[in-house]
Amino acid sequence: MLFFDKFFNPKSVAIVGASRTPGKLGYTILENIKYSFKGNKYPINPNAEEILGLKAYPSLLDVEEPIDQAIIVVPAEMVKNVIEEGIKKKIKAFTIISSGFSEIGEKERELELKKLCDSKKINIIGPNCIGIYKKDLDMLFFPKKRLKRPPEGFISFITQSGAFGSILLDIMANEGVGVSKFISIGNKVDVDEISLISYLERDLSTRCIAVYLESVKDGQEFIKVAKRVTKIKPIVAFKAGKTQKGSEAVASHTGSLAGPAQIYSSAFKQAGIIEAKTSDEIFDFSKALANQPVLKENKIAIVTDGGGFGIVAADATIDCGLELPSLTDVTIKVLKSFLPSYASVKNPIDITGDATVERYQKTMEAVLKDKNIFGVVCIALMQLPTLDDTIVDVLEDCKVFGKPLTVCSAGSDFIQERNRKLEMYGIPVYPTPERAVKAMSVLYEYGKILKREEIVKKK
Ligand code: COA
Repeated sequence: MLFFDKFFNPKSVAIVGASRTPGKLGYTILENIKYSFKGNKYPINPNAEEILGLKAYPSLLDVEEPIDQAIIVVPAEMVKNVIEEGIKKKIKAFTIISSGFSEIGEKERELELKKLCDSKKINIIGPNCIGIYKKDLDMLFFPKKRLKRPPEGFISFITQSGAFGSILLDIMANEGVGVSKFISIGNKVDVDEISLISYLERDLSTRCIAVYLESVKDGQEFIKVAKRVTKIKPIVAFKAGKTQKGSEAVASHTGSLAGPAQIYSSAFKQAGIIEAKTSDEIFDFSKALANQPVLKENKIAIVTDGGGFGIVAADATIDCGLELPSLTDVTIKVLKSFLPSYASVKNPIDITGDATVERYQKTMEAVLKDKNIFGVVCIALMQLPTLDDTIVDVLEDCKVFGKPLTVCSAGSDFIQERNRKLEMYGIPVYPTPERAVKAMSVLYEYGKILKREEIVKKK
């Protein structure tokens, strides 16, 4: 029995180790819960009567009302006792933030938690993790002033590393990329990537599952579950600890064993998982897969207002195994009717450095209607004096054509503001042509995975 609703949609939560001291993790967690979570919240601290304006209780057993989830942030030696009290209180879901378990060789201490899960029908996230982040359930121990929260969106992110995950959240927030659920699983004594992937399979607000992994305990089960889920929604996985030194670091991080990189790569392939080879890619791929349709055939167009960027994108397209077909005669005729003589209507289509929003709009429309073209990488260098803010709306309107679009838009503050708007509209933006093209190629890869499944079904 898995009590995931108690983790993600609890009616009440207790914070055991809620602290009176600003700067302590238990203080920040309570603060973030207080301002994000609408249900009942119970700080537990035998040394306090009230924290942050909320009545505090000496122990879980002193709370009279039912508690759906306990977030535990007391030193490791105290955790087992807290869980035993929680079990008496009929709590089913525990999230343990505390470190000090198998990652420092305290395997016995972790085993005790495992036994409690096995025998008492409870679920644990962690230990040694940063728990869950959702817009309405923020248990991160980072103050909002130091780590921005992303807007609501369609990526759910499972991470074995709290640090990797939380920094990615900050980056996503900065870029305006939306997140549905964030789950840091730490040492995963009970809840792990497999059970979470299964849960997210049915979660309507998750359109892409991103996973940062250091190890998988049950490879066969992982492949079986992922194979089923990738028929419905994409999974992007990044495996860390690929080298000898890296896998040694894994052992002391979450106390688990990493395996050879090739084994993971082939398991990902078998399961239809898209592998991110770098930490940038997990982010780049997820935001495209969560927000854009698949690329049905490997034929794309590049539309650019910068010749050099267009050339770099063309090279990247070929390197990724995509093609740049010629446009149909009809499209070329349409383009020539409004583009200046010095523009290029070959693919890449260069609408040049004096491109206006209207020129983008007409070009994108003509190209997206072209039957030879299945997706567009649009390079919009928005520093041009001829491009006003409405470029963002024009690119958003391209959604009606139902073909995937990725955008390359590079630059500093002024550009970042426009990029954020695009991301809010679900249009993935990248700072280099290579990354925009690579993201497009992943939309093709996932399309092939889905097609493969259709072929298998028909047989
Ligand atoms: N039940 C509930 N609260 C209790 C308690 C009990 N039985 N006994 C003590 N407390 C209170 C303390 O009084 C304290 O509150 P106060 O500051 O108001 O006095 C609060 O719980 C915290 O206890 P404290 O002993 O001060 O611990 P701490 O805050 O220094 O450290 C952890 C606790 C969990 C943060 C620390 O042990 C830890 O694991 N840190 C690493 C966390 C981490 O990195 N996680 C993984 C991220 S990837």
